[in-house]
Amino acid sequence: PGGPAVTSTSVTVTVDGHEVEVPVGSTILEAAEKAGRRIPTLCHHPDLPDVGVCRICVVEVTGQRALQASCAYPITTPIEIQTYSRRVRQARQTIVDLMLAEHCGSCQTCGRNGNCELQDLAAEYGSDHFRFGQRTEPTRLFDTFGPSIRRDMNKCVHCLRCIRTCAELQGVGALGVIGRGDSTTMSPYLTLPISDVVCINCGQCINRCPTGALQEVDNTDDVWRAIEDPTKHVVIQTAPAPRAA
Ligand code: FES
Repeated sequence: PGGPAVTSTSVTVTVDGHEVEVPVGSTILEAAEKAGRRIPTLCHHPDLPDVGVCRICVVEVTGQRALQASCAYPITTPIEIQTYSRRVRQARQTIVDLMLAEHCGSCQTCGRNGNCELQDLAAEYGSDHFRFGQRTEPTRLFDTFGPSIRRDMNKCVHCLRCIRTCAELQGVGALGVIGRGDSTTMSPYLTLPISDVVCINCGQCINRCPTGALQEVDNTDDVWRAIEDPTKHVVIQTAPAPRAA
């Protein structure tokens, strides 16, 4: 009596010392929300089914050695969790640093500057230098062939939000995962340009992309990108040279 309890429909969770009752099967993320504790997320999106791939939402669960992804951990028995311990904060900072090491592109010329979830996380976890180095050359695909969607895989964090949006929400399935490990990339079928697949140009993937990996086609931006890297698909046209008399 008086201790953590589980009934047929609800279970007691202790979040940073505060007890809350949640329905059995709720995730740790939902329990923390109910307790008024914010846990950062990246691959989680309220519109989409959870996949637990980015691990930025890790927490400590008492009695478990490994940190757990709170968005993908259904609660079935009473548990006690720590959402902001030193170990949790260090793990989140390492994840952000690893993402930044793979993130190639200048924030200053990115259309998502000031509205980027990776930028926000870097600020929140003090990732103000490239601890694991920085990719300075854009080696991944930059697809500007679509009429309305531009894909820059040099800025992708592999959260899969675009793929889930396209498949689960829109029922289109124009995007998928290609490659493994370091070569993983979000791509249309057979790595075709977005203009050559069943994309309906609804733009919902752009709405859910946390970074500048997916953006609306904007010719002004493209000119800036082309100036930064002339190997991009954009061609800046110059006036033809006057003919010799
Ligand atoms: Fe939970 Fe990505 S937000 S694993």
